[in-house]
Amino acid sequence: MKDGLKPTVLVVDDEESICKVLGRFLKQQMRLSCDTFSDPEEALRTFDRGRYSAAIVDVRMPELDGLELMTMLHKEDPHLPVIVLTALDDWETAVNAMRLGAFNFINKPFSAEQVESVLAHALEQHKLNSELREKKADVPNVHIIGKSAAIRRVLDLIKRVSPTDSTVLVTGESGTGKELVARAIHLGSPRRHNAFVAVNCGAFPDSLLESELFGHVKGAFTSAVSDKTGMFEVANKGTFFLDEIGETSQMIQVKLLRVLETHEVRPVGATKARKVDTRVIAATNRNLEEEVEKGNFRYDLFYRLNVIPIHLPPLRERRDDIPLLVGYFVSRYAERTGRNLSAANISPEAWEIIEGYSWPGNVRELENVVNRAFTLMEGDRIKAEDLG
Ligand SMILES: Nc1ncnc2c1ncn2[C@@H]1O[C@H](COP(=O)(O)OP(=O)(O)OP(=O)(O)O)[C@@H](O)[C@H]1O
Ligand SMILES: [Mg+2]
Repeated sequence: MKDGLKPTVLVVDDEESICKVLGRFLKQQMRLSCDTFSDPEEALRTFDRGRYSAAIVDVRMPELDGLELMTMLHKEDPHLPVIVLTALDDWETAVNAMRLGAFNFINKPFSAEQVESVLAHALEQHKLNSELREKKADVPNVHIIGKSAAIRRVLDLIKRVSPTDSTVLVTGESGTGKELVARAIHLGSPRRHNAFVAVNCGAFPDSLLESELFGHVKGAFTSAVSDKTGMFEVANKGTFFLDEIGETSQMIQVKLLRVLETHEVRPVGATKARKVDTRVIAATNRNLEEEVEKGNFRYDLFYRLNVIPIHLPPLRERRDDIPLLVGYFVSRYAERTGRNLSAANISPEAWEIIEGYSWPGNVRELENVVNRAFTLMEGDRIKAEDLG
């Protein structure tokens, strides 16, 4: 951008008169800054990536076809919105331009209002997109540590499902990192700037869980003294993490299924349903297939949730990850306490115990043991007895 904060627009048209008219209009009426070229090759030669917030390009030019020019500009700057000027009756070219990535097209002869409205739109879009790209860089990263084949498979799945809206079912014993995986998917998704809401379905009795998930209206039951928005709606445009889904009753399961099928929630006592756009990630430490067979879990809900299954094996089945995780938790502990500590402070006897133990509480237990050992450590060595 030049001229302070004014966005700069690139105008390319082989007719000098059009360049002049547009140039004057953009500068005087729209208070923009602009560069005009009647020679498309010159426009390309002097093109400066990041300088322009939008471009207006004539489609029919003797030296270089406008659509070709657009493609070349996009090679230099893929985020540049390009508006194409086409002849009034030439719909085929207009449609073609859109297919090739034009932001929009304007028919010649054009009116000032047309240019103003299409261009304002393009500039708005460009601004939003560049803000989003900036923000993307400072999203906190979720660190999923591990080099075992199992963890690499999980990381690969996370990468593939993150950009989509697919429902994901994360399974694994307690402490294996199910919530961490759910957060990683959310932060890797286009929903990252909206809410990540987690509800532990095992933590509420049925009637409370229903209100928690779907909300209620004032007076729906005795204690409903005011309206309550359900967490499904709080997570609108974001991600909803349904933890311990295996603990839900048949009644809740039926209602969840309906929300997943209709993308609508109906708060308890409400007469009308409301649209929600919420991505669902569910987790459980139970074997849901077994629960389905036993008749404890509805098979139709199971299939709805299990679109993409991600399984986290227990830590004892991926021992390669143990030293890495220990190193990671020690360095986090050192950072937090400002002390100069590393995995080198762990004695060989202590390592032997760490590597031989079965870790029934999985990664959470390992994290706690490391933190406790470093807190209790006397001198600069973790000994076998510090592991508790
Ligand atoms: N691969 C990993 N890398 C780094 N930290 C991990 C990893 N797996 C788990 N953790 C950490 O271990 C702890 C437990 O993870 P999390 O809460 O995601 O487990 P969970 O499967 O949801 O457990 P629960 O079933 O008990 O709720 C968290 O502090 C998490 O950050
Ligand atoms: Mg959890």
